[in-house]
Amino acid sequence: MIAIASDHGGYALKEILKEHLAGRGIPVEDLGCGGESVDYPVYAEKLCRAVAAGQYERGILVCGTGIGMSIAANKIHGIRAALCGDCFSAEMSRQHNDANVLCLGGRVLGTELAKKIVDTYLDTGFSGAEHHARRIAMIKELEN
Ligand code: RB5
Repeated sequence: MIAIASDHGGYALKEILKEHLAGRGIPVEDLGCGGESVDYPVYAEKLCRAVAAGQYERGILVCGTGIGMSIAANKIHGIRAALCGDCFSAEMSRQHNDANVLCLGGRVLGTELAKKIVDTYLDTGFSGAEHHARRIAMIKELEN
């Protein structure tokens, strides 16, 4: 199960992505917002704490640019959030960084590109290579 959340700037893309994921048979839980004007750190925290607690395998956060969500998400212990605007970055975020949250800019991306980025992100696994695992362990050390 994956979680998705947005602020008002990401709401329209979030709705499109939910439909896309449903079409692929991927279970997704929407943690808000409902389109009203909200503060994105609230939704970044809600989703990231749930992902960090193991409630969801991974999360997707959408705001206007994806920047605010990614800054907030990366403050949460255990979260490696990747702001992606292309499929190569989405692939690498999984293979090299084992990113557990994907951030997207709803006012930046076209819908077809956004869907492709999400598919790439969800369909790619961590490489498991020792040097990447070591670097992720080093990132975790930074949290202490
Ligand atoms: C909201 O207007 C906007 O600032 C937000 O969606 C996001 O782009 C922040 O980084």
